Amino acid sequence: VDALLADLAGITGGEHLLTDQDMTGGYTTDWTRRYRGPARCVVRPASTEEVAGVIEACARHKAPVVPQGGNTGLVGGGVPYRARQDNPPVVLSARRLTRLDPVDTLSGQVTAGAGVTIAELRAHASRAGFEYGVDLASHQAATVGGTIATNAGGVLKMRYGGTRAQVLGVEAVLADGSVISHLGGIEADNTGYDLGQLMVGSEGTLGVVTAARLRLWPAEPPLLTLLAGVGGIEEAVTLQAAIRAAVPGIRAVEYFEAPGLALVRRHAGLPAPLPEDYPGYLLAEVAGSEGNAEDYAERLSVTPPLQKASVAMDAAGRAALWAYRERHTEAISAEGIPHKLDVAMPLSQLAQFRAELDEVIAKTGGRAIVFGHIGAGNVHVNVLGPAPQDDAVDNAVLRLAAAHGGSISAEHGIGHAKAALLHLSRTPAEIAAMRTVKTALDPDGILNPGVLLAPQESK
Ligand code: MLT
Ligand code: ZN
Repeated sequence: VDALLADLAGITGGEHLLTDQDMTGGYTTDWTRRYRGPARCVVRPASTEEVAGVIEACARHKAPVVPQGGNTGLVGGGVPYRARQDNPPVVLSARRLTRLDPVDTLSGQVTAGAGVTIAELRAHASRAGFEYGVDLASHQAATVGGTIATNAGGVLKMRYGGTRAQVLGVEAVLADGSVISHLGGIEADNTGYDLGQLMVGSEGTLGVVTAARLRLWPAEPPLLTLLAGVGGIEEAVTLQAAIRAAVPGIRAVEYFEAPGLALVRRHAGLPAPLPEDYPGYLLAEVAGSEGNAEDYAERLSVTPPLQKASVAMDAAGRAALWAYRERHTEAISAEGIPHKLDVAMPLSQLAQFRAELDEVIAKTGGRAIVFGHIGAGNVHVNVLGPAPQDDAVDNAVLRLAAAHGGSISAEHGIGHAKAALLHLSRTPAEIAAMRTVKTALDPDGILNPGVLLAPQESK
């Protein structure tokens, strides 16, 4: 008899402890299908107390734990991967932590459980006249807890900042089963270490987020969305600056290229977005009230490359334009298992990086689909072709980004995928400080081992 499983069943009830591989499959393979591994079990606690019980039991049995939200991560951070075969991890799914308090309209804040999806949170905020400042293509499945653990970015980052900027406080269970909770939402609160912010982007290595106090923004409905053809990324960078200068209230500026568009059109059966084809496309969304519409349209029409644009002012038209960008991920996945390399760099470096990228990809025999949140300097380099276990193209592209002063992870996090290359973006002193924090909070290393900080070679 597995004593740990008996303990866990005592905490959540046997129906929320999954051991049958038919039942655990959806929790042990990531969205890309590139990262997977066996789990000892999947446990689905429904309250902070149950999470604390689960972690305390796992700590007692020295069982590693992989915390998981909506399992939409792209760097293998939320599934078992290359774990010790004699001690496979427990997957802790936080999806049943669905507390969602009424919006506090006095402060413009809300408290949400880790298992609330981003779509549910955004709809909840919207009904109260507010907007949650993070949105991403996976919003139907991605959760509050998962997006906090990964500090998810998404399409509104240039407007509201990423997830980190929304988090006023966190409730989390630490590696010994203790609970830290700071959900009061007091903006003026200067009382020492911000433990909640320490959890943001920690990728489940320091604690399991169970709830958060989140900042909301006054609702700011999009007024117009435009899609413009461009000659390539250099022109896209120039054009986004011109658009930002021409009108206030830019919510998002996204970029994609002809090969990605072709995949999306084939996969989703969509018509061409513009009368002519272009090497690249820029999608921009602007907020404002109805009264601004004509003025903004006029200001944008004098922005030179916009003669090649399609503009939508109604919800259906805007959704139709967004589909060309947002359906990239699924269209690429339908072609095979991609290498998803999420990098960012100063806007001034993007054109040179893009030119050198083609040479790097050519050497690997793969084909690249490039798209992303260009307003934030963030491009997603997706490479199809090389085998999932072959890291050569990952290494080459991440090194190229670093050589241009960029980051090896713009918004997806480090996970298992990039742990060995963290040194490309962080100094030895920074990595040493991160290890010190990790060891202090999780001395037995049970929380998401191998994620973010690669296992150290024994000396
Ligand atoms: C996106 O921007 O669509 C997401 O980051 C997903 C992806 O990179 O595939
Ligand atoms: Zn993205």
